[in-house]
Amino acid sequence: MALIVVLQRRVIANMRASAGGACVNHDGTHKGCRYKYVAVAGVGAPLVGAMVLGPQPCSVYDFCMKKYPTIEDTVGATPLVRLQRIPGAAGEPRGNVILAKLEGNNPAGSVKDRAARSMIRRAEERGDIKPGDTLIEATSGNTGIALAMTAAVRGYKMVLIMPDNLTLERRAAMTAYGAQLILTPAKQGGMEYARDLALEMQAEGKGKVLDQFANPDNTLAHIETTGPELWQQTDGRITHFVSAMGTTGTIMGMATYLRSKNSKIQIIGAQPAEGSQIPGIRKWPEAYQPKIYDPSKVDAFELIDQADAENMARRLASEEGIFGGISSAGALVAALRVAARVENATIVFIVCDRGDRYLSTGVFN
Ligand SMILES: Cc1ncc(COP(=O)(O)O)c(C=O)c1O
Repeated sequence: MALIVVLQRRVIANMRASAGGACVNHDGTHKGCRYKYVAVAGVGAPLVGAMVLGPQPCSVYDFCMKKYPTIEDTVGATPLVRLQRIPGAAGEPRGNVILAKLEGNNPAGSVKDRAARSMIRRAEERGDIKPGDTLIEATSGNTGIALAMTAAVRGYKMVLIMPDNLTLERRAAMTAYGAQLILTPAKQGGMEYARDLALEMQAEGKGKVLDQFANPDNTLAHIETTGPELWQQTDGRITHFVSAMGTTGTIMGMATYLRSKNSKIQIIGAQPAEGSQIPGIRKWPEAYQPKIYDPSKVDAFELIDQADAENMARRLASEEGIFGGISSAGALVAALRVAARVENATIVFIVCDRGDRYLSTGVFN
């Protein structure tokens, strides 16, 4: 018996030495790595039976499967790129740099992938929902697409309620991910009506509403991921952060994180001017103000005209090669206004999604 133990140790040591690399997850941990029972070949025949090893940590043996990321694991870590032409006189002559955070590079195509993953994961961790449950959400598009993807990955049924005047691309993407759509007549009250209907359906026991407008996990997604990314990508040099405002999850989370690093960073919110319709963002009436919204976290508001945002979306694509959505271009209009007032600033704006999502509107024609 003692002899077997000695030999066993020696074989293990040899296996360690010969291992080309340990089995690790994409994030460098060994958690969840698959274990394997391995029969050691090549040792004396009588010992083979005794050498069947039990489950061993992957860090020790190289016989485990590498754990690859899921599609959900690829949310975040989006690029930050410098604008070269559009800033013009407001840019380098004033010592300003304008940077675009490309959230359209997320797997379901928008900044909302972060919020969707955060809201579903955390609700699951708290035991509020479990795979197989039905989730309901009122959405103007991007959140719906992101939730539909996350629900597909995690095994939930997804019901999305949206006004019927939103783009066909958005609807098609949601159904592609397997979500059920309920279209509400835009004339009947747009997003406000959709939000009320979602809560009514929850009260009738038809499913659980994540409520991106009141859910702190929406904001948390940016405190935990977008904020640290941006801080690291700018080496802490960011002076101004500009975001279009919808649920306000992005701007609230970024304000919270960035201010915790440097209280002087200016937070600028872009909202549609009176009479302008820019998909994904709103200046909400008082009764529908998102519960996660805290106006004290925003230093300045810029009202953006729809025509200016659409024109800038075309310029962003044709002059900078960045094919973003209309609200993203609206944020850039706001960023340029800031750049014209300041010097030696590092101004970051969020490109919430990609222009492909708006092709059917004809805005890029
Ligand atoms: C196109 C677009 N832009 C901007 C936003 C605003 O992001 P947030 O809801 O975090 O304020 C959204 C939100 O859904 C959006 O869909």
